[in-house]
Amino acid sequence: MTETEAIISRHSVRSYEDKPIEQDKVELINDKIRELNESGNLNLQFIEDAGKTYNKLFSRAAGLGSAPSVIACVGKDDEDLDERVGYYGEKLVLFLQQIGLNTCWTGTFNRKNTEAVVMDGERLVITIAVGYGRDQGKEHRSKDASEVTQGRTDRPEWFKNGVKMALLAPTAINQQKFTIRLNDDDSVDFIDNGGILSKVDLGIVKCHFDIGRSSN
Ligand SMILES: Cc1cc2nc3c(=O)[nH]c(=O)nc-3n(C[C@H](O)[C@H](O)[C@H](O)COP(=O)(O)O)c2cc1C
Repeated sequence: MTETEAIISRHSVRSYEDKPIEQDKVELINDKIRELNESGNLNLQFIEDAGKTYNKLFSRAAGLGSAPSVIACVGKDDEDLDERVGYYGEKLVLFLQQIGLNTCWTGTFNRKNTEAVVMDGERLVITIAVGYGRDQGKEHRSKDASEVTQGRTDRPEWFKNGVKMALLAPTAINQQKFTIRLNDDDSVDFIDNGGILSKVDLGIVKCHFDIGRSSN
C-alpha cells in the first residue's frame, strides 16, 4: 500500500477490537517512530497499553476507550511544535494504516493518565489512538477545493493533486480551517485560519499535500 493509498483508505476509527498489537508490529512501529523522531526533532512514544488515557467521558462516549494502544505526541516545546507533531504524526498514522492498523487523533484525552515521558522543556501535545478497528471508519464530509485555495488560477496538476490529498486529511472536528495559496513563482503558502488545534491540523495538511504533490 502506497502512502497515497493509505490516505484514501484512512478514516478515524473510534471502536476497536479487544486485540493487542502483535510484537513484530510493535517493533516495526518503534523503528518508524525512531526515524520520524529524528527527522522531526520529536519524542513520539508508542504506549502499548493505553490504560486510562481515554477514560474521560467524551472519549469514552466516542468509543475510544476500546483502543488498546496509544501514541503520545511529545516534543521540545518550541514555536512550531504543534505543526511538527501534525506533520510527522500523520506520517506515522499513514504508516500504521499501511501495516493494517487503524487510528484516531485525539485532542480530548486524560493527560494525567497517559504514561508518556515528558522531559523538562517538552510538551505533550496530543495523542493518537491505535489498534485494530471494528470497522474502517467512513469518509468525512469535505469542503470543495475552491473553498480552501487561493492564488493563481492556472493550476498545475501537482498542485491539484496536493490539494486533493489535503482535503482527505483529518482535522479537529473536521474543521478544515486552512487555505493553500499558489503563488506566481510556484511556491505554496499554507495558511492557518484558526480554530482548535489548528496548527496540528496544518502540519497534517502539509504532510498530505507533499504526498499528493510528489505522486505525479
Ligand atoms: C488535531 C485533531 C484532534 C482530534 N481530536 C479528536 C477527539 O478528541 N476526539 C475524536 O473523537 N476525534 C478527534 N479527531 C478526529 C477528527 O474528528 C476527524 O479527523 C475528522 O472528523 C475527520 O474525519 P476522518 O479522520 O475520518 O477523515 C481529531 C483530529 C485531529 C486532526
